[in-house]
Amino acid sequence: MWKFRDVISILDYTRDELEHLFSVTDVILERSLDVGKPLDGKIVATAFIEPSTRTRLSFETAAKRLGAEVINLEPHLSSMAKGESLTDTLRMLDDYANLIVIRSPYEGSAKHAADVCEHPVINGGDGTQHHPTQAMIDLYTIRKLKGRIDGLEVGVLGDLKYGRAAASFIYGLTKFNVKRIWLISPEPLSPRPELMDRLKRMNVDFVKTENLEEAVEDLDILYVTRIQKERFPDPAEYEKLRGSYVITKKLLSRASEDLKVLHPLPRVDELSNDVDDTPYQAYFIQAKLGVPVRMALIGLVLGVF
Ligand code: CP
Repeated sequence: MWKFRDVISILDYTRDELEHLFSVTDVILERSLDVGKPLDGKIVATAFIEPSTRTRLSFETAAKRLGAEVINLEPHLSSMAKGESLTDTLRMLDDYANLIVIRSPYEGSAKHAADVCEHPVINGGDGTQHHPTQAMIDLYTIRKLKGRIDGLEVGVLGDLKYGRAAASFIYGLTKFNVKRIWLISPEPLSPRPELMDRLKRMNVDFVKTENLEEAVEDLDILYVTRIQKERFPDPAEYEKLRGSYVITKKLLSRASEDLKVLHPLPRVDELSNDVDDTPYQAYFIQAKLGVPVRMALIGLVLGVF
């Protein structure tokens, strides 16, 4: 099921496997994250060659809470700055650690790391389509706040072309029986063909629109994402699209009072601070749940749960 398996894409997991992860997370939360030190003597390496706050630090926190020690590759301080390849760097980490978490801007880096390393590799986000552990957190957050994922009407808004959190989340939703997915983006930031193909193949009821107002009254969940400035080949194109959507408290007054707003964070200008103190806000809860979900994941992959 999970033991010693590389975590590369949310698509590699069945609904049953995800539900097992969620059950283990429930137990960790019931115990206020205090589950002893089952990873005493183990070492987890993080190899982040792209910036991160939540993913790196929540993996580090999760590993330490389980009793593991953590070593962090600092690319600018490592011999990568002298020209050493990522492949050779990964070989070293594989010699030093029991588990490697990688983040990279390059498509396929996590799979490459898994091919190079004997120890399990977890994808902390690579390229534009895969951020599987974020999707696990997103799905768990919905299940926790709504009691279910099935039957919900879910809007995913923003950069659905370059945003790997959005893509992974949508892929994750296809493992459940949601009522409908609203794909809300400017046309140039529409989901990639492979994602659209998956939705069609899985017979998911979806609506693709540029207009949030069309959807907002029907939604149970609104998943907001940042327009991914760093992934645009042409900065002028980003400038044209930035600010396409700004979610405010006023805009949400038309939504169901039970609507929950998620965002993988970081946010820039697409989600107003005035939503923070409303009952819609679920993004800080989502970020906080990153630790127990990643504790469950690391424990399952290293075979202690
Ligand atoms: N959600 C997420 O991946 O955040 P970071 O980039 O800060 O890790």
